[in-house]
Amino acid sequence: MLEKVAVVGAGNVGATAAQRLAEKQLARTVVMIDVVEGVPQGKALDQWQSAPIEGFDTRVLGTNRYDEAAGAELFVVTAGIARKPGMSRDDLVKTNAGIVRSVAGEIARVSPKAILIVVSNPLDIMCYVAMRASGFPRERVLGMAGVLDTARYRMFLAQAMDVSVEDIQAMVLGGHGDTMVPLVSYTSVSGIPVSQLLPADTLESIVTRTRNGGAEIVAFLKTGSAYYAPSAAAVQMVEAIALDKRRILPCSAWLQGEFGIRDVFCGVPCKLGRGGLERVIEIALTDAERAALLESAEAVRATQAVVDAS
Ligand code: NAI
Ligand code: 2OP
Repeated sequence: MLEKVAVVGAGNVGATAAQRLAEKQLARTVVMIDVVEGVPQGKALDQWQSAPIEGFDTRVLGTNRYDEAAGAELFVVTAGIARKPGMSRDDLVKTNAGIVRSVAGEIARVSPKAILIVVSNPLDIMCYVAMRASGFPRERVLGMAGVLDTARYRMFLAQAMDVSVEDIQAMVLGGHGDTMVPLVSYTSVSGIPVSQLLPADTLESIVTRTRNGGAEIVAFLKTGSAYYAPSAAAVQMVEAIALDKRRILPCSAWLQGEFGIRDVFCGVPCKLGRGGLERVIEIALTDAERAALLESAEAVRATQAVVDAS
């Protein structure tokens, strides 16, 4: 168990993540921070009041001040705005980059040794902004996307085969967007290659649905995006770090030559432990998967240039 974990952004993803962290008792104290006065305080108090019913001893505090999160070992960054009508993708990048830059600066001020798990979109770019603004090494800046994208892929496969989601092993790599790379060659069901269990066209449609997983939910919700699975995914990463589990999970990491990719955040298999990113695990890919991963990394790099120019 950690002493203190902070969640920045008390919106849908942040508040749900705080609740999950408390219910799993991954920290003695969970601090929720937001710019809106009253919202983190109210949500935190409400969550803490569920403790006697749910049976957890984690304290949940809400605040507008970073000093109350001083010394937190880990921060989950969910602050940001959604794209609004008339706003270009680049406008959104610049707006959220400004928010994440200020958040990461505050985190570095109050908790210079913390680990950051970035959730804000566009994910891989916000990881870059957070790393630059905090000055933290790559071991302590990770992005959450691959765990979510993989969960969606596993759920769709389980549904198609009518089997338990628990028996599906899979990994989705690449940037968090249209170019993500579900690895069919590494997808198995209790060790059985998925290609032996599903026809190629069904697999292909599941890969496509996975790539559009976020948009499918936005189309239903209309005024917001997914948060139950995203918060669960972020908390799984926190758990791997807090409990030093050495889990291998797909996370966005700053690549330094792994998979032939350098100086860009991209989703790859990562070993997570108490130090954060313990190691990027390089695996053999088919030619098509390798080409898709490189293409995805280059798409991230192109948007990174928007931030560099701002
Ligand atoms: P939301 O709009 O419900 O919450 C965002 C919160 O951030 C709001 O409460 C807002 O007041 C707060 N905020 C804005 N500026 C802030 C600042 N400077 N400091 C502290 N808080 C600030 O949005 P939601 O649904 O919680 O999503 C949060 C972010 O996570 C979005 O950027 C979204 O696109 C992203 N996301 C990423 C996913 C991923 O797979 N990486 C999955 C789901 C969401
Ligand atoms: C998602 O994939 C919006 O990135 C978010 O649901």
